[in-house]
Amino acid sequence: MKKPFNGTDRMHELVMSLPDQLASGARTAGAARIGRAGGFDSVAVAGMGGSGIGARIAQGLLLDRSRVPVYACNDYDIPAAVSAKALFVAVSYSGNTEETLSAYGQARRRGCRIMAITSGGKLGQSAAKAGYPVLAVPAGMPPRAALGHLFSTLLICLERLGVCESQQRGLEEAVRLMRSRRRSWMAEARTIAKQLDGRLPIVYSTSRMLDAVTDRWRCQLNENAGVLCHTSSLPEHNHNEIVGMGRPDHPGRHVVVVALLDRETHPCTRFRLESVLDITNQAYQLAVRLESEGRSRLARIFSLVMLGDFVSIEVARRQGKDAMDIKRIDELKRRMAQKRG
Ligand code: F6R
Repeated sequence: MKKPFNGTDRMHELVMSLPDQLASGARTAGAARIGRAGGFDSVAVAGMGGSGIGARIAQGLLLDRSRVPVYACNDYDIPAAVSAKALFVAVSYSGNTEETLSAYGQARRRGCRIMAITSGGKLGQSAAKAGYPVLAVPAGMPPRAALGHLFSTLLICLERLGVCESQQRGLEEAVRLMRSRRRSWMAEARTIAKQLDGRLPIVYSTSRMLDAVTDRWRCQLNENAGVLCHTSSLPEHNHNEIVGMGRPDHPGRHVVVVALLDRETHPCTRFRLESVLDITNQAYQLAVRLESEGRSRLARIFSLVMLGDFVSIEVARRQGKDAMDIKRIDELKRRMAQKRG
């Protein structure tokens, strides 16, 4: 007898496919006609939610490596600094997200050089009609589960357009590492999910490169597992949030800290992390420290992304939540569409 459809199992399969998506997106972008390299003074990438996180990951990855500033835009408006000399990339899986369409409209009016990454929708239609390069990602997935396609398509376009050095080796290593480690990360995720059970997770980033990864953890815990999650960044946390820890009602028992660490985490930041737990008298009692794996930045970033995605699935299972179900987002989008008329 055919097994009934289970949204969480499907989401799990999609997380498993992340390395294959990375490889496939890179091939698509490698073969696409995207025009000449250079000729722009900044890059702005617009996208929301599951379509926006890839730009933020790329920003963290290229922080000290991009030849021009890279802006990640998650709003209706784009920064004033994005001028006619900018490259603008609109990323929307559905192609129908109103904030991204608004940013795209602004970029067109400013005369930016434009590209779109999408599975279709209004964005796909409009960009194709205007003659802008449209990089197609396969349809039929929840956008957040298509991160591999969306991210590597963007990254390889940026590489080909001269924004950064070749990313091929890092990408290949990331794909290899994820394929060889995915089963053991799944098992590790089960243990972490148990520690998160019934608690509010606070995910700490310990380097600028990891800020977007903590965001990915938060978004996946929100959407897949249906739980609230807070993120924080060290060392900045030590100059404000540390005072509020465990107050006003000492929720410590209900909070679990997940600290994401990387070999580029500053040694002083590591010391700060341990000191925080001590100074606050273990305000949050349980701390899970997770080190990235791999050699290249890309592999290290995606080792923590994939582990976090698995954790969100395991928390969903423990909560009895269908990881596919994001009814509240759908309802909000419906209301916004009604408002537009
Ligand atoms: C859904 C998801 C959402 C969407 C967001 C924008 O899986 O992750 O965060 O990504 O609502 O929609 P798109 O990606 O279609 O532009």
